Amino acid sequence: MGLPEVRLGILPGWGGSTRLPRRIGIAEALDLILTGKTVVGRKALKLGLIDALMPDARFLDEVRDFALERIDKPLREEGEFDFKELLLEKNPVGRKILFDQARKKTLETTHGHYPAPLRAIEVVRVGIEDGLRAGFDAEARAVAELATSRTAKNLIHVFHLTEEAKKETGLPGAEPREVHATAVLGAGVMGGGIAQLVAAETDLPVRMKDVNDAALASGMQHAAQLFTKQVERRRLTQPEARRKMNHILPTLDYSGFGRADLVIEAIVETMNVKQEVFAETAKHVPEGAVLASNTSSLSIAGIGAKTPHRERVVGMHFFNPVHKMPLVEVIAPEGSDPAAVNTVFAFTRKLGKTPVLVKDTPGFLVNRLLMFYSVEALWLLDAGYRIEDLDRAMTDWGMPVGPMALTDEVGIDVATKVAHILHEAFADRLPVPEWLDKVPQSGRLGTKNRKGFYLYEGRERKGPDPSVYTLLGLQPKVENPDPGTIVDRMVLPMVNEAARCLEEGVVRSAADLDLSLIFGTGFPPFRGGLCRWADQEGLGQIIATLERLEGAVGDRFTPSDALRRTAEAGGFYARFAGR
Ligand code: NAI
Repeated sequence: MGLPEVRLGILPGWGGSTRLPRRIGIAEALDLILTGKTVVGRKALKLGLIDALMPDARFLDEVRDFALERIDKPLREEGEFDFKELLLEKNPVGRKILFDQARKKTLETTHGHYPAPLRAIEVVRVGIEDGLRAGFDAEARAVAELATSRTAKNLIHVFHLTEEAKKETGLPGAEPREVHATAVLGAGVMGGGIAQLVAAETDLPVRMKDVNDAALASGMQHAAQLFTKQVERRRLTQPEARRKMNHILPTLDYSGFGRADLVIEAIVETMNVKQEVFAETAKHVPEGAVLASNTSSLSIAGIGAKTPHRERVVGMHFFNPVHKMPLVEVIAPEGSDPAAVNTVFAFTRKLGKTPVLVKDTPGFLVNRLLMFYSVEALWLLDAGYRIEDLDRAMTDWGMPVGPMALTDEVGIDVATKVAHILHEAFADRLPVPEWLDKVPQSGRLGTKNRKGFYLYEGRERKGPDPSVYTLLGLQPKVENPDPGTIVDRMVLPMVNEAARCLEEGVVRSAADLDLSLIFGTGFPPFRGGLCRWADQEGLGQIIATLERLEGAVGDRFTPSDALRRTAEAGGFYARFAGR
């Protein structure tokens, strides 16, 4: 249960903002109203949001008894809601502190981009201090104003994208196969997360294979920790978590693979190792099994090249951290079996994730676009911008983390490897600074070894590491940088490349592209997606800025023909509407 309105850029406007605080207390109500989060039954009962919790099995009987017991009792009058006996909430000074804190916290998380939660705080205050009627009036006025804002329209657009995506089934003409048992290859960061997700969401047996004991143990530990968190958050009970954890069976050989009709590979990112492992795995799985790879940068066709039934080798690209990121890119190489592709598509949905079909091209969709953004951050660094200025400009613009912190999180070794692979594919369009390899070579791997563009204390990111500039022979010299320039230089190359991706058919529609970036990278939902944002800014304007950057910075900003054609056709959504 919850009040999800803020997620659409509005606020509970049918009494919710005014009644809920009276019912469960101001602090608890604000927590629900400002985040749009939902709570499970047990929590709802504890909050006083519901009167009783009844078991499924005896629901009809119990609900009848419950209703009969109350049939002759008077209804609670609207004005008679019990105020929670909370000291802070009952006196005006205490309430002011509470509202001020809520405002501060909201601004910290929204950077001022989402007007609805701030407005909701005000509406709740009016409802509490001036009474129910005044509260309802304030709600109505706020909803009317918010609903017509660009933010609300964009958030509603994203909601529609999500709903539309639920109807997608993958390639035409084939039914997905039933999956009865699964296996995961590799027990690392991704493998452990994927095994846990499969066990948690599908209740199917998962064999998790690695080449060494220590990796298996740490993969199991990773899965166990994720289950513990779910228990702590009351998503699962302890016995449920234990039962699901028992689905994951670690192994050093292929035992149990004889029943696995879907194998998900997440081993080292090396082509020949993957090729050998796929060929070997194919010998141990049942006829018709689907072999999926979680590779972030290698060609799926290449990975399947030595496997007898390569038509059943499909890409299934998760994002890190697996349990949080809602996107999975499903990659169908040329000649793949539509039933195999659709099996991965349907299974992804069972995992509670959103599948998007993409082509087997370098970087697929999300990493390709993202690389144009993060490599440009390196060029800005090269030009004398400071690490923290780059990150602040982008988080202020709405990205969940800045590009430099993101590179630390992804892993600098992984990021540089992908940068090189995509540089090979896109050459002059994506040049990389010559000092690039010095960063991982200096032992900086990012968050995982707590040494990167930033300094770390334990798991916590501290300030930027000044020794990076010395290492790379750079001089931070740009004082008071213009955030608009930073945004243009990093976001416009993605727009430019997005037009190419759509023309090449890497992804089927502007809607799929927008959803992928929002779900795969946290691209700000209030902007409605990359293509939608570009359409709203005006492609003519964007092309003019790219031309200016082309002159001032270099050819990598040359507007693509694809982008010009898109502008002529009336924008991304006009040209790439269909799937
Ligand atoms: P990792 O290094 O944490 O884990 C790889 C695991 O594979 C290690 O435990 C290793 O012992 C094991 N392994 C190596 N050879 C094996 C074999 N022949 N059979 C079974 N296990 C073997 O790597 P990570 O980060 O989990 O990446 C795995 C794959 O997922 C890579 O293809 C990577 O590109 C992809 N990926 C990684 C993401 C990330 O953010 N780390 C995001 C999306 C995809």
